[in-house]
Amino acid sequence: MDKVIVTGGNRLVGEVAVSGAKNAALPILASTLLSTEECRLLNVPYLMDIATMERLLSCLGAKTQWEKQKHTLSVRFDQVENLEAPYELVKTMRASILVLGPLLARCGKARVSLPGGCAIGARPVNLHLAALEQMGAEVRIEHGYIVASSKRLRGNRIRFDVSTVTGTENLLMAATLAAGTTILENAAREPEVEELARSLNERGAKIRGAGTETIEIEGVDRLTGGSHRIMPDRIEAGTFMVAAAITGGEIFVRSALCGHLRDLILKLRETGCEIREESEGLLVKGVRRPKGVDITSLPYPGFPTDMQAQMMALLSVADGTSVITETIFESRFQHAAELRRMGAFIKTEGKQAVVSGVEHLTGAPVMASDLRASASLILAALRAEGETEILRVYHLDRGYEKIEEKLSSLGAKIVRIKEN
Ligand code: EPU
Repeated sequence: MDKVIVTGGNRLVGEVAVSGAKNAALPILASTLLSTEECRLLNVPYLMDIATMERLLSCLGAKTQWEKQKHTLSVRFDQVENLEAPYELVKTMRASILVLGPLLARCGKARVSLPGGCAIGARPVNLHLAALEQMGAEVRIEHGYIVASSKRLRGNRIRFDVSTVTGTENLLMAATLAAGTTILENAAREPEVEELARSLNERGAKIRGAGTETIEIEGVDRLTGGSHRIMPDRIEAGTFMVAAAITGGEIFVRSALCGHLRDLILKLRETGCEIREESEGLLVKGVRRPKGVDITSLPYPGFPTDMQAQMMALLSVADGTSVITETIFESRFQHAAELRRMGAFIKTEGKQAVVSGVEHLTGAPVMASDLRASASLILAALRAEGETEILRVYHLDRGYEKIEEKLSSLGAKIVRIKEN
């Protein structure tokens, strides 16, 4: 397994370009199932999770073609040849569940492996299934698989008990081809949901209200293909913003969309960072010692859970004590134990972590437990004295494109050691 070695202590300075958003590209790729025409997606990040989704779509019958230099991926589903998302793929990427709604809408049948728990929580998909049932689908669990069938799905008024991002996306896709109008209440408002709706509307869907908590979808008989450019990744942008903050550096994060990063900008400013919002990105200037701040992760537009681990790394070297409350996932503090190995002083109990900032971190061998935890450990390593060896970095490759190259270009000392 590969590992990454970071020698800390350098201020990161320069400019970095944000790649396309993983969590926008994944549902849009799944939505290519909804029509027989070609969809051409631009600015697709070249990542493990995208490759897994491409494999899944190919196994369902898609013809796909990458123009890697251009980050363009074309997908065409003349025919759906297979209705099953197998366990081998779903276990490596939970977002595979996103093919359930489109398969059911297009073919009236689907067999999708039930995702198991993961490092950050149990992550059930009960809300996806209950909502599809409310649209007339019959759903049962058989041998570890979700087996769903329906004649044409019917529009309905559906209220999610909890705001769910992929749940909203699955229903949004299913409802575009349903008979009648579907109203989703307490829908997720994440920019990635809005982006999916925008791309579906470009292809003939009739969706209103995406980005608010009530989305109305008037079913249509068919969708066309089309070309769509994936928006910049707000979590990758946020990770580079914290890289500037934690190293006391100065980074222009090109293509970062300020509107998607409001809460993070506020919190980083509270720690003492200077942030200039420009039309083409954000300039972030860190300070030698950030101030402690309290953070609570919440559904969008609240503070993103996907930035909680990276902020914990920053707050571990802050002047003062910070309280981090994680309200989205029940076990998303695994990075705390690894940060402690680097000298951080963090106590976790239930949903809360109390971080008492220390003056220095020291490099140590650490283990990444999930994607954002890996980013957190790299950030801490950039600040730490000496060398940090980060194991299980395959998590990083799921969501950060060329991260070592990008950080090196900003002055970081980071290398990957390839191992069998
Ligand atoms: N939930 C249920 N039942 C459901 C669905 C969700 O109880 O049927 C609960 C979850 O257990 C969780 C909460 O609802 O406690 C919110 O989960 P959500 O469904 O919104 O998460 P998700 O759709 O599985 C997406 C992102 C995650 C991101 C979360 C929250 C994608 C592919 N994944 O997951 O991204 O953390 O929303 O914003 O969009 C990442 O990129 O590192 C990542 C984990």
